[in-house]
Amino acid sequence: MTIRIAPSILAADFAALGDAVAAAERGGADLIHVDVMDGHFVPNLSVGPPVVRSLRRVVHVPLDVHLMIEDPDRYIPAFVEAGASMVSVHVEALAHLDRTIGFIKSLGARAGVAINPATPVASLEEIAPDLDFVLVMSVNPGFGGQAFLPRSASKVRAVRALLDRAGSPAPIEIDGGIDLETVVRVVRAGAEILVAGSSIFHAPDAAEATRALKAAAEQAARGASASRA
Ligand code: DX5
Ligand code: ZN
Repeated sequence: MTIRIAPSILAADFAALGDAVAAAERGGADLIHVDVMDGHFVPNLSVGPPVVRSLRRVVHVPLDVHLMIEDPDRYIPAFVEAGASMVSVHVEALAHLDRTIGFIKSLGARAGVAINPATPVASLEEIAPDLDFVLVMSVNPGFGGQAFLPRSASKVRAVRALLDRAGSPAPIEIDGGIDLETVVRVVRAGAEILVAGSSIFHAPDAAEATRALKAAAEQAARGASASRA
C-alpha cells in the first residue's frame, strides 16, 4: 500500500491559501485536494479553475480536483489546463461515464470516479478496469466538517474487492470526516489516498496535523499488510 495524504483546501483560510498549502506540504502532503461545487449537484458553492491555476504556481505536489458538479464535461478541459493532475467525477452526475473517463485521460490527467454514500459499489463494475482511482465519499458531499459515516469502511473493503476482481491496481481515495481515529479504520479497509480538510486546516498547526495523520495512516497500513501476509 502506498499512503498518500491529500489535504482539502475547503477547510483552509482562503485569504491565506498559499500559507495553508505550504504548511500542508511541509507536513508531507502528497497531493492537494480541491473541492469544486456548483450549487446544483451539491447544495454549496466553492472554487473554479482560477484557484487551481493560482495553486499550481505555488504547490509542488499534484493537484487532485474533485468535481461535485453537474455536466462536468463542460469544465474538465479548463481544470486540466489550469493544472489539475487528477480529476474525479461523480457517477451520480453522469449518464455517459465511460466517455467522460476517456475524455479526462485524453487530456493527460488521471481519471477517477467518486461515489456517494448511498451509491452501490456495483455501479463501478463495468468501468473499474478503466479507472486510475476510485473516490469513496464517507460523508454526503457538499460540506466540510461532517462526521464520518461508519459504513464507509466496509464500503472501501467492497470497492477494493471489486477492483481486485477486475485486475485493477487503482488506489482508493476516501473523503469526508477523516481524522486520526477514522484514518486507521479506512486504511485497514484498503484506502490509500486520504483526504482531510478540517482535521488538518482547523488544527493549530497544519504541518504537524498532516505529519500526524500520515504517521497514523502509515502505521495502520503496516498493520494491514502484516495481517494480509
Ligand atoms: C466534501 C468534500 C471534502 C471535504 C472534506 O464535499 O468533498 O473533500 O472538504 O472535509 P472534512 O475532512 O472536513 O470532512
Ligand atoms: Zn473532496
